[in-house]
Amino acid sequence: MDAGSSVAVNHLYRALASGYNPALRAFVPISKAGLSQGAAALDNLISPHGSRLIDLVVDQDRAAEIREQSRDWLSVDLGPRQLCDLELLINGAYSPLDGYLDAADHQSVCSEMRLADGVFWPIPVVLNIPDELVDNLAGGDFLALRDGEGVMIAALRVDECYQRDLDAEILAIFGTTDRSHTGVAQYLHRTRQWAVAGRVEALQLPVHYDYPELRRTPAEIRELFSNSGWRQVLTFQTHRTIHRAQQAVIIEAARDADANILVHPVVGLDQPGDADHYTRIRCYQAVLPEFPKSMVHLNLLPLAMRGGGGREALLHAIVNKNYGSTHLMVDFDGSGAVLDTIGEPAYQQEEAALIISKHAADLGVDMVPTREMVYLEDRHQFVASTDVPPDDHVLRLTADEIRQHLDDGLEIPSWYTFEEVARELEQRHPARREQGFTVFLTGLSGSGKSTIANVLRVKLLELGGRGVTLLDGDLVRANLSSELGFSKEHRDLNIRRIGFVASEITRAGGVAICAPIAPYDVVRREVREMVQPCGGFVLVHVATPLEVCETRDRKGMYAKARAGIIKEFTGISDPYEVPQDADVVIDTTELAATEATREVLLHLERQGFISAPDES
Ligand code: PPS
Repeated sequence: MDAGSSVAVNHLYRALASGYNPALRAFVPISKAGLSQGAAALDNLISPHGSRLIDLVVDQDRAAEIREQSRDWLSVDLGPRQLCDLELLINGAYSPLDGYLDAADHQSVCSEMRLADGVFWPIPVVLNIPDELVDNLAGGDFLALRDGEGVMIAALRVDECYQRDLDAEILAIFGTTDRSHTGVAQYLHRTRQWAVAGRVEALQLPVHYDYPELRRTPAEIRELFSNSGWRQVLTFQTHRTIHRAQQAVIIEAARDADANILVHPVVGLDQPGDADHYTRIRCYQAVLPEFPKSMVHLNLLPLAMRGGGGREALLHAIVNKNYGSTHLMVDFDGSGAVLDTIGEPAYQQEEAALIISKHAADLGVDMVPTREMVYLEDRHQFVASTDVPPDDHVLRLTADEIRQHLDDGLEIPSWYTFEEVARELEQRHPARREQGFTVFLTGLSGSGKSTIANVLRVKLLELGGRGVTLLDGDLVRANLSSELGFSKEHRDLNIRRIGFVASEITRAGGVAICAPIAPYDVVRREVREMVQPCGGFVLVHVATPLEVCETRDRKGMYAKARAGIIKEFTGISDPYEVPQDADVVIDTTELAATEATREVLLHLERQGFISAPDES
């Protein structure tokens, strides 16, 4: 970072840390609270929702009893989303819930946003069960709740199984029952009609090996706040990296709210093997020292976003309140939306602010708006985009532009982010010329895929720098997929296998050249999704027309297919879905193999994966 570029921000947090700047008079975090340490001080924090902080982990004796008795119980293996809900139930983030909603609560929450006992609650927390379990469960039975590896996390004492009104639930969450709404479709996809209600007794919290010290429960966080003498706490709930602009906006909001800061990244559905997860957390850790000293804590929030509009914002307010927050600031993107885990907008900032203020009396938590901050180049200062003085030169970079910087191997400007954050991101996203990539050629038999693939391999080896693996259709069929035939199911499986291998090669920085027919669009897109997070993906449609392929008929297969000797032959008696998302389209009717390959090389060069191919 150059000396002048962050003057204003540095000034701000130095002043905040020392607490003497009159402009920041309201922000006197520790001394003002003046709290004594220990349990009594907890009273100075906001009350948990429903006044009771829940902890569902049982003592050792009861745990031993449960383990002993559970041998005779039925059990369910929970998916990642269900485990998130279970963790938030167990650790008290869903206080005052101590289990899954029954039919009366469910109906009341959907229609009134209240539990049957009148406590405000915006979204049903239910446990779906498979139909076959329902007949074998009665009130008073116990059900073992297990994680994906079969470890028993908790026991559920069954109150009832009930068929819920899914339309009412979906309408409550999404404000529509329209099946074409992405959130609704996804929700229906992962939901079952039957739910089981009952109180949860936990043996332990779900297991996480990553960052255990950052996975504090609401009770632990409250104790931490209390020991730090905190009373007012502003949560910054986020799913993205914090750069200078966000840091400035958080500090400003905390100052206005007379609050300390909890940085609370949503990590519910992050997978243990996902490298981006670790980069993200390391970036948060790197940003912490950039906040005023002793005024910020970092904690990981095991929440899975539902994609559920304003009611979801209310749930977030309750969860953070249970962690001890008085103010909630959600990290909305440039369009004012917070995105759920499939990248769809979950709710809009205005919608969230409106509904939270409407239910202020029930919540006791304020929603603090985030503002887009821009950098004033001459003043070395971030200001809200609405407060830019006339004639001042403004700098701003979108997330896409930052990604482009990284792809191009350019440094992230020091006005935009902190040195260590930039280093983390640059390490995680090497420039394209250092990334692995997959070239996926699709087309009819005899279209020229294999020939292009072979020439491409040679040319890339000539360029050097990466290992090159050829996954030609015939080669794969002889090895990886030797037991498969040509039904749609088998072809899809074959392509998925190729996609998996290609993604691993790409992840390791190599080049995978794949050349199967791959006639079906959906599975081709699946492969793109699989590979792209690992590096580059180029779909090449070798679009040589059927008549030309059939005339070539190098293997004599078209003749056999026409004669009905070979069944389900692509182009003759089986479909080929023309890709609409091809990055390169090549018709080899009039093109020599080297010319065709050159089209691919030029594309790779334009994308920055290789340097200019040799002109010779
Ligand atoms: S797929 O659809 O992508 O799984 O097919 P792929 O693995 O590329 O295998 C295609 C090669 O198998 C030979 N072959 C057939 N192709 C299409 N349909 C049928 N029924 C069939 N039976 C055998 C054919 O020679 C293909 O090789 P290429 O190299 O494409 O000519």
